[in-house]
Amino acid sequence: MSQINTIAVIGAGIMGRGIAHAAALGGYCTILEDVLPATLRKAENEIRSNLDKAVELGKVAAPDADAAFQRLQYAGSVEEAAREADLVIEAVPEEMESKIEIFTLLDKICRPTTILASNTSSLSITEIASVTYRAKRCIGMHFFNPVHKMKLLEIVRALETDDDTLASAIEVGKHMRKEVVVIKESPGFITSRINAMIGNEAFYMLQEGIASPEDIDKALKLGLNHPMGPFELVDLVGLDTRLHILEYLHKTLGEKYRPAPLLVQYVKAGRLGKKLGRGVYEYPDAAIKAKN
Ligand SMILES: NC(=O)c1ccc[n+]([C@@H]2O[C@H](COP(=O)([O-])OP(=O)(O)OC[C@H]3O[C@@H](n4cnc5c(N)ncnc54)[C@H](O)[C@@H]3O)[C@@H](O)[C@H]2O)c1
Repeated sequence: MSQINTIAVIGAGIMGRGIAHAAALGGYCTILEDVLPATLRKAENEIRSNLDKAVELGKVAAPDADAAFQRLQYAGSVEEAAREADLVIEAVPEEMESKIEIFTLLDKICRPTTILASNTSSLSITEIASVTYRAKRCIGMHFFNPVHKMKLLEIVRALETDDDTLASAIEVGKHMRKEVVVIKESPGFITSRINAMIGNEAFYMLQEGIASPEDIDKALKLGLNHPMGPFELVDLVGLDTRLHILEYLHKTLGEKYRPAPLLVQYVKAGRLGKKLGRGVYEYPDAAIKAKN
């Protein structure tokens, strides 16, 4: 198993900032990078505030939270972030072209032994890895939102991922206090494939006027014991992210994953979820934050 000391996280959006939080708390020197400097500043504030909340709730000891915060650094370019990293976790938007661009660059600037991981929710790690000269050192590390609270980490073994890379990723997951499941690559892995299906069906029901979003959410929470309703969840995940996943599943697995037209329409309207203050539901406080 490879010794991992430094982790770089590329993309400081919803997921990247959470992964950086968990990595720093897991004892790793962590460097978080984003193309947008304002996003990095927001990420830094949010990580500090989430660490403080964890201390208040007695989940993390104050010195551990401070030490985690000290272990975090911020970088304005992929080169600066990834040059010295033993593991890079990419968390840029769910588009194959973006992932390929980042992996091509990472392959050039990182040491040959550095492990390159993607947090993609559905895309093929084998395809992403194929643009590098280190396919055996590429792997999927699929975290869940919000990362600092969610226990699961899906580790996705691509066609050429080697045993050392797999063992190292599992070890990192454990240090980040996650429960790990390992799966052989397949579109949408376990969770995204099932979740996209439930969420898409909910949009079809809304489109057909079967029930209100509130009642569909209520039915799944109280009748099926889901902790969140499908619309509450898609607002948290981002409707754009969910649409990208469904489009990919539709392309790779077939007709039953065709995105509901109403979901497509919401994305066209810019109703991308809580991050922009408007998704299926309205979030006036989040809208103000998103503008600042
Ligand atoms: N949102 C979720 O609930 C969720 C859950 C699991 C996995 N994922 C996956 O995580 C990945 C990121 O999703 P997200 O929700 O955090 O997206 P997001 O839109 O919140 O964040 C993406 C970030 O990447 C930055 N970025 C874009 N291009 C970049 C580049 N070339 N270099 C550096 N930074 C760049 C953007 O500025 C943005 O801050 C996607 O692959 C998504 O499928 C998302």
